[in-house]
Amino acid sequence: MSSHRIAVLGGDGIGVEVVEAGVRVLQALAEVEPGLSFAFERFDWGSDYYRRNSRMMPADGLARLEGFDAIYFGAVGDPDLPDDITLWGLRLAICQGFDQYANVRPTRLLPGLTGPLRPELGRQIDWVIVRENSEGEYAGVGGRAHRGLPIEVGMDVAVFTRAGVERIARFACDLASSRPRRLLTVVTKSNAQRHGMVFWDEVVKDVIRDYPGLTVDWMLVDAMTQRMVNKPGSIDTVLATNLHADILSDLAAALGGSLGIGSTANIDPSRKRPSMFEPIHGSAFDIMGKGIANPLGCFWTASLMLDHLGEGAAARRLMAAIETVTERREHLSPDLGGTAGTAEVTDAVIAALRGGNA
Ligand code: NAI
Ligand code: MG
Repeated sequence: MSSHRIAVLGGDGIGVEVVEAGVRVLQALAEVEPGLSFAFERFDWGSDYYRRNSRMMPADGLARLEGFDAIYFGAVGDPDLPDDITLWGLRLAICQGFDQYANVRPTRLLPGLTGPLRPELGRQIDWVIVRENSEGEYAGVGGRAHRGLPIEVGMDVAVFTRAGVERIARFACDLASSRPRRLLTVVTKSNAQRHGMVFWDEVVKDVIRDYPGLTVDWMLVDAMTQRMVNKPGSIDTVLATNLHADILSDLAAALGGSLGIGSTANIDPSRKRPSMFEPIHGSAFDIMGKGIANPLGCFWTASLMLDHLGEGAAARRLMAAIETVTERREHLSPDLGGTAGTAEVTDAVIAALRGGNA
């Protein structure tokens, strides 16, 4: 079997730290999993690249990524650069440029972890959040005018198109249908936002008609936050807009034990262009360079990438190794209440992959 060609883009801060740990884990996985192999190519794009070149990636960056099977991404964000420059210059440039319109974020409370909820509630968390990833509130449409004057104005326009809503709704319905509970919660805010969000509701309803086997319920986004906390077992697959799902998925990651565990797939379901896999968290200025970043979210991310590449067995094997390490609780990073550094957690996962103890 040919190697999977993976573009490795650590980006900034702990993004680089956890992605390099992930490459080590994937290499170890390839040694134990028959037929699995990778060809990694690293790209040093990000904020340091920006300081040298005045851009986050080269002008032909997308063209250089186009031929890869997947992109393994860390995070962007630099204490000395504006966040909108770093985010739009690299991460959003890739997501939008490759039309990775489906952002998928699974959450489970892994064995051995407690999270902030009471244990009987925390154990019920088994969700996957589907985030519209190409338009909505983050479409990038808007403007600034009258700078410096009292009448100065700044606007971001939330953009909902029939094609955009329809395709993400279909993706979410397909995903919900593939899960045992066949349960979809659609998040909205059509009580207050009476144009775009009402349209969102209408288009999603049209799509849902094609899925009679699904149980569907609707939540306003504010009420959704309390349902995630108070009744986590009543939720399975969630469909939400770009902004709403961005916020709900950080809440989900925290309820799952730590932001350091959250994982994401940015998928182009047409498979015309590479999809991108990344941990949920950012570059974490407060802990970068200290060697204590939790790499588990980036490993879970690698498991999502393997699934996308058609390597289901390897994906499950990697998840099992991660869960062995969380269950033993001997090699957890400080955000999970442990004392292990990034390298120690990584060694423990690699040892679990090889079937032993770290
Ligand atoms: P952040 O996710 O970087 O950090 C939030 C908090 O969680 C910090 O206290 C951090 O130490 C902790 N944390 C995050 N990941 C962790 C890990 N793996 N292990 C242990 N602790 C972890 O979010 P923040 O601080 O709001 O943003 C920092 C920078 O990252 C900003 O420039 C922001 O724009 C950028 N960012 C980039 C993202 C991306 O590239 N996808 C996503 C989120 C933020
Ligand atoms: Mg976010």
